[in-house]
Amino acid sequence: MTQVTPYNSGESKKQQVATMFNNVAPTYDFLNHFFSLGIDKLWRNKLVTLIGRSNPKWILDVATGTADLAIAETKLNPEKIIGIDISEKMLAVGREKTKRFPVIELQTGDGENLNFSEDTFDAVSVSFGVRNFENVNSGLSEMRRVLKPGGKLFILEFSKPANWLIKNIYYFYFCNVLPFVGKLISKDARAYTYLPESVRQFPDGKKFIDLLQLAGFKNTECIPLSFGISTIYIAEK
Ligand SMILES: C[S@@+](CC[C@H](N)C(=O)[O-])C[C@H]1O[C@@H](n2cnc3c(N)ncnc32)[C@H](O)[C@@H]1O
Repeated sequence: MTQVTPYNSGESKKQQVATMFNNVAPTYDFLNHFFSLGIDKLWRNKLVTLIGRSNPKWILDVATGTADLAIAETKLNPEKIIGIDISEKMLAVGREKTKRFPVIELQTGDGENLNFSEDTFDAVSVSFGVRNFENVNSGLSEMRRVLKPGGKLFILEFSKPANWLIKNIYYFYFCNVLPFVGKLISKDARAYTYLPESVRQFPDGKKFIDLLQLAGFKNTECIPLSFGISTIYIAEK
């Protein structure tokens, strides 16, 4: 898999990604909801409904960022939600937002090298995180390791729409409008050009299912959302 990195600075992809999310953290939530016209919230809610089917008690939210998914998961009344991220600034925004939710604990941590024992969690979730991993295969193996047997991994990630018309409208918006407005508001010139580049390069659909199976997951599912702009992947340990 070719590596698309935010800055081509010579640092590791992980360091560059952490720097980029530290830079955009103050405007991240606003731009997320603005660019997606609020649809990102519907996608996370759909993911949470699917997670709720197995009634998980211990949930790990990897690449939790500003904790939107972790907060949505409180609806499921789990005993514990641990959110981890490599970006301190994203976590700082998340800590403010999660003060009212004692069930959530946010920690600095790397999804590709998890600081938890094996068989710990009933569910692991990741929204818009795996595409930013330096080594996706290690991340998937690590998330499988910390899941209890029968536990499930839930991934929400951008994908590439199949319909010709939707694809063209979407790419125009994603590659022109989004970088222009993103740069203006976030003040990070690269963050919103890295986004469409990383989506184009990242495996989706069957190719991503293959990676999940390679990491040892079974009963894999792929659920395209909004014409395939995003996809939910479910996989069982
Ligand atoms: C696009 S944001 C998504 C945040 C949140 N999950 C959401 O849905 O809004 C991607 C997040 O992944 C984090 N991230 C990237 N690589 C990571 C890794 N290896 N381990 C943990 N977090 C990582 C970034 O720091 C960033 O906060």
